[in-house]
Amino acid sequence: MKYEYERVETPAAGLRLHLNENTAGCSPRVLAALQAVTREQAAFYPDYEDATEACARRLGTAAAETVLTNGLDEGILAVAMSALRHGREHGAVDAVIVEPAFDMYATCADAAGAHLVHIAPEPDFAFPLGRVLDAIGPSTAVVFLTTPNNPTGIPVARDHVLRVAERARHALVLVDEAYADFARTTLIGDPALRGLPNVIVGRTFAKAYGLAGLRLGALIGNPSTLEPIRAVLPPYSVNAYAVAAAQAAFDDLDYFNWYLGQVDESKALLDEALKRLGVRFWPSAANFVLACLGEKAPAVIAGLAARGIIVRDRSRDPGCAGCIRITAGIVPHTRACIAALEEVLCGAR
Ligand SMILES: Cc1ncc(COP(=O)(O)O)c(C=O)c1O
Repeated sequence: MKYEYERVETPAAGLRLHLNENTAGCSPRVLAALQAVTREQAAFYPDYEDATEACARRLGTAAAETVLTNGLDEGILAVAMSALRHGREHGAVDAVIVEPAFDMYATCADAAGAHLVHIAPEPDFAFPLGRVLDAIGPSTAVVFLTTPNNPTGIPVARDHVLRVAERARHALVLVDEAYADFARTTLIGDPALRGLPNVIVGRTFAKAYGLAGLRLGALIGNPSTLEPIRAVLPPYSVNAYAVAAAQAAFDDLDYFNWYLGQVDESKALLDEALKRLGVRFWPSAANFVLACLGEKAPAVIAGLAARGIIVRDRSRDPGCAGCIRITAGIVPHTRACIAALEEVLCGAR
């Protein structure tokens, strides 16, 4: 079987609540920084020193422990490539993926030549610690964990992450924190990681910072663990505009905090509406909510689309039959989504 990222068809118009993007757009300071990029900056290969420093400062780590990537997607690919490149030398080729999971783990691990080990979900998506630990052995090259998880929004307990990392000491463990800004928790700077150099934390600036179109992510880890990962990354994969944008985005904390507040309020509104409408959902620590519409899911997706609201069908993900995922962005967008959902589900107006 070949694993490929499922590219969703996105209508040209409509409210995009299907890719967990920042629905407000980036900070205005980012646009100003982009406009200030000089002809020389566009003409020269970019330098990453200042942006890496700024990123490390923002994330509470050191520049030597930070690698900027062209979106976290590139970070995932680099981790998979590096894990397999070195694991293969001693027969370690397994990539452990805890389902339901972000598609890129399977896509990248498969592209790197890994043997994929999928861990099936527990009821209500409780983290299947025992089965994850049992799946880890000498043949494990890489383990992917996501906290909070996509598509469920459910965090993985710190203790569970650490137990997996301890069991997989001989392998790379990517802790994908793409949505950690919204959960306001991180493993970065956790003293336990000093004894677990096999852990790499992945971050993206696509979500809370609104830089998805510019493509910027980061890998954080022990410098000696990052070294072989740097070796498989193209030297200039992050472009000069992303570099300029990053520094401006990191400086605009007011915007960042405002956006987190909007997402919190949106999730509260969505939770309340879904309860009122009798729709099952999972409380989320991320910027989206997974809701189970059962057999009605296709009609709800189509009904929302007809009203200009695009949500993501997740019904084919393991454990997610009948589920859709709705991005929680700024409050007016969420209110528009809720109004459309009410129309579709109640057949009103
Ligand atoms: C869990 C997870 N990891 C990584 C990414 C990729 O982030 P980026 O846009 O920085 O490539 C996403 C994007 O949706 C995601 O959901």
